[in-house]
Amino acid sequence: MISFDLTTMLFVPAASAKMIGKARGLGASAVILDLEDGVGTGEKRMARDGLAVNIGESWTGRPLLFVRVNGPGTEHFHADLAAVAQLPVTGVCIPKCETVGDLLDAERQLMDAGAPDSIHLCPFVESARGMVNAAQIASSTRRVAAMALGSEDLAADVGIRRTRNGEELVYWRGVVATAARAAGAIPIDGVFIDFSDEVGLEADAAAGRALGFGGKQIIHPSQIAAVHRAYAPTPQELDRAARIVAAFDEAERDGRGVVVVDGRMIDRPIMLQARRLLGSG
Ligand code: COA
Ligand code: MG
Repeated sequence: MISFDLTTMLFVPAASAKMIGKARGLGASAVILDLEDGVGTGEKRMARDGLAVNIGESWTGRPLLFVRVNGPGTEHFHADLAAVAQLPVTGVCIPKCETVGDLLDAERQLMDAGAPDSIHLCPFVESARGMVNAAQIASSTRRVAAMALGSEDLAADVGIRRTRNGEELVYWRGVVATAARAAGAIPIDGVFIDFSDEVGLEADAAAGRALGFGGKQIIHPSQIAAVHRAYAPTPQELDRAARIVAAFDEAERDGRGVVVVDGRMIDRPIMLQARRLLGSG
């Protein structure tokens, strides 16, 4: 299983040298330099050609560095992958992945262009067809470190009507969370586009976490803190989890499988949830 902290993945338009410079020091877990939807058609080539200079040679550690290339079937796909193969990135985001072939094609092109064996992939699933194939895509190569939900493109493709609280996305979030987790990859929730609504963002991030996501795409520096808050366990959650684990361990030593903590039944799966929470704290 691949293990990264991808709690916040900040999109930065690759055409903006200024934003790339700024993004390094903001405290996001990862940045995604975007060659796709964040860059206009007239700037695509310039953004790709400028990547190496804008990244420089000293990008180490946090934030983890990803680049999102243009999608399979676009005129830029091949050239983007060839350029990214030479860069010191942790991973490459492949948007609009619809089939296993889309992802394996990207992987092969990266390898052919000399990418290091350690390079990771993060396919974006953002169409009905991609959703149908999500589980196979996530497990198609060991390089898949994360799988991202592209909620806005999905809405456009399927005809989903977006609301502030995102209840219409519950099913699709579940598809991506399940596909990624089954492959040992980290599921990454979609963006919350109203970057002036911090309360709405924190609720949206918490809803994603509750559905099993391991992190969230964000678009603006102001979104970093709220998402980290939503994903971090509270002191109360940590305290209860510690008491659950202790009580369960004691019960097991006595040969019992069920114990009561705070008036609630605690058995093995509840203990496992508590252990998992402590592991992420
Ligand atoms: N990464 C790094 N820095 C960013 C940033 C980002 N994603 N978004 C904004 N900033 C910087 C701005 O440059 C500005 O810096 P300054 O104070 O030094 O001038 C500061 O944060 C405040 O930005 P603000 O004026 O509030 O926003 P903006 O109008 O400059 O930009 C967006 C708003 C939405 C255009 C911008 O946040 C953005 O491009 N986000 C990413 C969009 C994207 O990639 N979409 C595709 C994937 S969904
Ligand atoms: Mg998109």
